[in-house]
Amino acid sequence: MNELSKVAAATETAPEPVVIPVEAYISEDYARAERDKLWRKCWLQAGRVEDLPDVGSYITYEILDDSVLIVRVAEGDAANGADGRIKAYRNVCTHRGRRLVDTPKGERNAHGKRMNFVCGFHAWTFELDGSCSYIQSKEDWGPKLCDEVTRLGEVKIDTWGGFVWVNLDPEAELLRTYLEPAATMLDPFQLQDMRPRWRKWTIFDCNWKVALEAFDETYHVPGTHPEFTEFGDFVGWGRAQGKHSHIGYDAPKGLEETSAKLRLGAGDPRVTTAQMQKYTWEGVNTNTTQTLVDVAQTLPDALPEGTPGDEVLRYWLETARKIDEERGVVWPKVDAAHVAASGTAWQIFPNQQIGHAVNNMLCYQARPYGYDPDKCIFEVAVYELYPAGEAPETQWEYADPSAFPHVLLQDFSNMAAVQQGMKMAGYAGNVPNPKAEGAVISLHRNLARYMGTGEPKDL
Ligand code: FES
Ligand SMILES: [Fe+2]
Repeated sequence: MNELSKVAAATETAPEPVVIPVEAYISEDYARAERDKLWRKCWLQAGRVEDLPDVGSYITYEILDDSVLIVRVAEGDAANGADGRIKAYRNVCTHRGRRLVDTPKGERNAHGKRMNFVCGFHAWTFELDGSCSYIQSKEDWGPKLCDEVTRLGEVKIDTWGGFVWVNLDPEAELLRTYLEPAATMLDPFQLQDMRPRWRKWTIFDCNWKVALEAFDETYHVPGTHPEFTEFGDFVGWGRAQGKHSHIGYDAPKGLEETSAKLRLGAGDPRVTTAQMQKYTWEGVNTNTTQTLVDVAQTLPDALPEGTPGDEVLRYWLETARKIDEERGVVWPKVDAAHVAASGTAWQIFPNQQIGHAVNNMLCYQARPYGYDPDKCIFEVAVYELYPAGEAPETQWEYADPSAFPHVLLQDFSNMAAVQQGMKMAGYAGNVPNPKAEGAVISLHRNLARYMGTGEPKDL
């Protein structure tokens, strides 16, 4: 079976409209139940393999009450399969339960390099393999205090696409199985070769689903980002793909590739693509690269008026590909039909979006901030390809919501307003567009399977 045959294609008839109850967004009981039913059951994206370059490099990942300590224990490539080189432990000392590695105040997570971990309370010491190598007055316990009792508890871990994933459920299915068909569809984009250009996290006054859903449809573009409609048409689709979903644009015949991220503007595509690329670079600082922006600016002079869209697209992408190759940045070659079928972004259940392209990616993640359903941690990470050894050193930076690029501020301006609006007495539930907002519907259908409540109902 090839990868396209696993993926739901466009259907002639739009799916039936549904109502999504607001419980999943605003109920305190639901937010509390998510810990056991969702966060302790799903594979969660906890970081990047390049954050763990050396033996002893570590990061932590926090999700509500749980904290996972992720450590590189052996050298070697681990971008698509941890192969025991990266391990994950419950970040808790086995003596009397102190969190073993603290996250410094104001930081997203702990990170650094150590050859062992010493507990801050009574100095029990843990090696990279999780065993406990120092216990003060160990003889006082006698032989019962064996390795099985003292070693750090292991958490399931694996890697795919250069991402590190953890699962708190010891019975969890394999990561690869969990990620399909997204993993197979995204493999050709070689996401493991990309490195972050910037990554910022913030806190919103809304539920984590409100924050994520603001990015998993393009239906909001005319309403939230009206200036973009000068450059092109943003009519799109969202389709369920098992637990996951993906989104893309409607594309004209012969230009199916433009259902994906690297797309042309409307009208005279030489001019509008140049404008849209410049505006995107300055207003969002993602979804494209400096090379693509620069080449797009030359389109009106390089190509005669009336050049058909498919020729403009090929010229733009091929010229940029060549320029990048000369500086040692080699884009993977992905079949045009595959690019078209993959769309602009995949929503990985439950809480990540990967906006992929051959030379860049934009990832959003959201997770609860405590048990308050009205608050979440929201993260944006922007990646691209770099010449070997030239990727910038980046860390997660906290940013006030007001400090993000201005197009994102337009998106952010809806977050708290949606959260508050849904609490209004008599509000009957959300009625997403069945075609354009299919990813929102898919998320809630899958959430209902885990949570046992909140199933979308026929309108
Ligand atoms: S709680 Fe860690 S050494 Fe006592
Ligand atoms: Fe937006």
